Amino acid sequence: MRIIRTENYQELSRQAADMIQAAIENKPDCVLGLATGGTPIGTYQQLVERYREGSLDFSSVTTFNLDEYYGVSSDQEQSYHAFMFEHLFRHINVSHERIHIPFGMPEDIEKHCHYYEQIIQDAGGIDLQLLGIGENGHIGFNEPARCLQADTHLVQLSQETIRANSRYFPSIAEVPKQAITMGVRTIFQAKKIVLLASGANKADMIGRMLDGRITTDIPASLLKLHPDLTIIVDREAGSRLD
Ligand code: F6R
Repeated sequence: MRIIRTENYQELSRQAADMIQAAIENKPDCVLGLATGGTPIGTYQQLVERYREGSLDFSSVTTFNLDEYYGVSSDQEQSYHAFMFEHLFRHINVSHERIHIPFGMPEDIEKHCHYYEQIIQDAGGIDLQLLGIGENGHIGFNEPARCLQADTHLVQLSQETIRANSRYFPSIAEVPKQAITMGVRTIFQAKKIVLLASGANKADMIGRMLDGRITTDIPASLLKLHPDLTIIVDREAGSRLD
């Protein structure tokens, strides 16, 4: 495990973009696992800038997103589909056939989850998985629980997550209560994992994640077992590490 402590969000975003750029340069047809939420927006901005400058080519890259709200269609403003196109995909030359995001309104949820696992395998697995972390320690939408689910599945969002995500909705009542998420094994099978945490509201969880214990109460703590984990924190998120 490697911990990179940066001075601020800008620097965190640059470092994360450097790692993604290195993965693409090393393997132009690499498979990226991507996250939504506030944290990776700066990283995506960096990637877009580098693409515009001509220093980054996404034409052979494949992507898989971690999660999507259940019951939300791809064209809805708050969907993670819409988020990814707004912040990244519509600005770069990634081929649309190689973009994968769980579909929020599948006819058969179990079949869709199974299909998502299968297409990740068929693509050769994820080379680099970008993650944020919930204030409650969730990764993807694997919420703290007595036991965690291995593969892509439908999950009930915790009250804490619903509250945190309500900033993107007109009211808390409109936040979806369920989501489709990669499971912990899906995430764990990525060859390289890069977890980002920014801001004072993540400091407590980063401190708890990095103490000695591994527990399903803090799903992110399981990542400490991964052979190639990099955690990038800014000064505020890393403030409990001293
Ligand atoms: C997003 C995701 C979530 C977020 C986490 C942090 O696809 O899977 O685990 O990474 O909720 O969100 P932000 O970055 O908004 O604090």
